[in-house]
Parts: sequence; structure tokens; C-alpha cells
Amino acid sequence: MSERAVRLSQAGGPEVMQLQTVEVGDPGPGEIRIRQKAAGLNYIDIYQRSGVYNIPMPSGLGLEGAGVVEAVGEGVTHLQVGDRVAYASQPIGAYATARVMPARCVVRLPDSLSFEQGAAMMLKGLTVQYLLRKTLPQGGLQAGDHVLFHAAAGGVGLIACQWAKALGLRLIATAGSDAKCQLALQHGAEVAINYQRENFADRVKEITGGEGVKVVYDSVGASTFEGSLACLRNFGLMVSFGNASGIVPPVPTSALAGKGLYLTRPSLFTHLSSREATQAMADDLFGVVASGHVKIEVEKQYPLEAVQQAHRDMESRSTTGASVLRLD
Ligand SMILES: NC(=O)c1ccc[n+]([C@@H]2O[C@H](COP(=O)([O-])OP(=O)(O)OC[C@H]3O[C@@H](n4cnc5c(N)ncnc54)[C@H](OP(=O)(O)O)[C@@H]3O)[C@@H](O)[C@H]2O)c1
Repeated sequence: MSERAVRLSQAGGPEVMQLQTVEVGDPGPGEIRIRQKAAGLNYIDIYQRSGVYNIPMPSGLGLEGAGVVEAVGEGVTHLQVGDRVAYASQPIGAYATARVMPARCVVRLPDSLSFEQGAAMMLKGLTVQYLLRKTLPQGGLQAGDHVLFHAAAGGVGLIACQWAKALGLRLIATAGSDAKCQLALQHGAEVAINYQRENFADRVKEITGGEGVKVVYDSVGASTFEGSLACLRNFGLMVSFGNASGIVPPVPTSALAGKGLYLTRPSLFTHLSSREATQAMADDLFGVVASGHVKIEVEKQYPLEAVQQAHRDMESRSTTGASVLRLD
């Protein structure tokens, strides 16, 4: 079967992504073939395309998608031909009109959600699930607690603002423009700081009456890391989960002394290590969406041919919320 897929033979700028015709075979044991309808665009795709994260070349790209099961391999019992499905998963290769992949990473998509929503919510929503529900300070998070969430108007960020509000958390957002700050506020952030204009650590101290926050969720990396530590209260938790501004340089343990801070550098894929864990996290995400507390908005849809432009938009910080590639 001839299909279209984005391929790259070396790391580099958006131009290394080329649309090619590829052969997609039948699923082997434990695998399914998906007729893909939409693929999620994520910042990790940029790290992998540009070489910030090394991937074996030549390679496909993309870790998030939604579509219809077209063929089922031996031993797969939880999915059938015709099922509407979605995933956030390795192996890389979601920017493709059809693909074969391990079935254990794939879940049924509720009928109330479109394929575009499915492709926009799995990687980002499951990330927020493990951040707000599992990556917690000593004693956990209680309604009324302050947390700081950087890049809060982005794909992960707008889901986090809504989910945090549903949990009763007082989320302090940062974002790179006043318009982005407005968006974070509209999605449930209690306060929003434009960190291009203001010193966010000073503002957080002010907002929390000098105490600091219990958790900082920091995906910006190099440019915010130090300021983030300054925002934490005693025994607070620093969650460094991305590096949009560059990789965080090695951190001396002495940087955590004084306040007795905790530091973690988690990854979604460690949480999705079994089918049961993936399903449980997806159920939690689908539940909060069904309750109406978290709305999955698709900000922009690009045809597959416009993949280079989609990456340029994301890298230039001109996007908000989640965008997808349309694959039909
Ligand atoms: N570890 C994990 O499990 C995991 C899983 C999913 C995502 N992530 C991370 O979470 C972050 C958000 O992912 P996303 O896909 O939803 O992307 P996104 O938030 O939509 O885009 C990244 C945002 O980072 C901000 N940023 C700050 N400094 C930047 C710089 N120098 N260059 C580019 N952007 C900069 C920009 O927002 P402002 O203009 O508002 O600053 C930009 O819009 C990424 O860092 C991603 O790698 C981690």
C-alpha cells in the first residue's frame, strides 16, 4: 500500500522534512494498522527534527495521532477493525497517512471527540495528567495551593490551566506576550505574568506573599530554570519537563540546598510503559474532558504539505494552544 509520510534523512531546519511515498505493510503480532486522520504537532518534534534530541536517521516524525483501525495483527484483543482510536506514543512516525504500530499504545477515542481533537489532546493531555496528578510535592497538592506553570498559553499549557482550575489549584501562568497572558487567564489561570517584560520570580514572590509556590512546572528550560528555583517555597518541587529555550545546564546539588528543594526531570513515555497504565491515564483525561472542565480546542489545522510552515510557526513562538496536521 503506497502512503504519504514525512521523512528526514538528517537533522536540521524545517526544510529537512520531505513528503515521500512509502510502503505500509500489514500489522504483525501485537500491532495494528491505522488509517490516520490527523497528527498532533508537538515541541518534541522540533527537538527531534533539529537534533536537540538525537534520533536514528533516516526517520519519520511525530508521536501523536488519531484515525481508524484498518487491520489488526495476531494477539490484539482490545481493538477491532473500524475502531476510532488515538495515541501518544513511540515509535516516531505519526506524520503519515497510514502506519503500523504497537497496539498496546493505542486507545479508543470517545465518539464525542473528533479526530482532530484526538490528535491535539493525547500527548499534551496525558502530559498534563501525569504532571498535575502524579508529579506532586511531599504531601501532595490541595485545592488553594499555588503552582507556577511556564509557557501556559501553549499546547500543554492551555490544558494545564483548565485542569488545574478544575482541581482548585491557583495556577500562576507565564507567557511571552500580553495576548498569550489573556488566553491563559481565560483558560483558568489565576494570574498571568508576561515573562518577556517582567521578572517572573519577583512577581511570584509578591503574589504569594513572599512564601513561594509548592511546584514549578517548567518546560522552557535554560532561560527560566534559575528563576524557577527562586519561586519555590521550602521543600518545593521543581519539575523540569522541557527545554524550548535550550537544554538546562548541569545543576549543582547545592542549588537545591537552603530550601531543601526536590528536582525531577520526567518524561511522558516512562508513564506510558504498559497498556494498563496508558488506558488509566487516558480514562482520566477523557473523564475531565467529558465533565466539561477541560475543553480541547484545535487552534490551527495544516495540510500535510504545509508541515514545514507548521514547524516554523511553532518555533517562532507565534502559536497558541494545539495545532494538528490533517491527513485525509
Ligand atoms: N517531558 C515530557 O513528558 C513532555 C511532554 C510534552 C511536552 N513537553 C514539553 O512541554 C513544552 C510544551 O510543549 P508544546 O508542544 O505544548 O509546545 P508549546 O507550549 O505550544 O510551544 C512551546 C512554547 O515555549 C515557549 N518558549 C519559551 N522560550 C522559547 C524559545 N526560546 N523558543 C521557543 N519557544 C519558547 C513559547 O511560549 P511563550 O511565547 O509563551 O514563551 C512557545 O510557544 C515543550 O517544551 C515540550 O518539549 C514535555
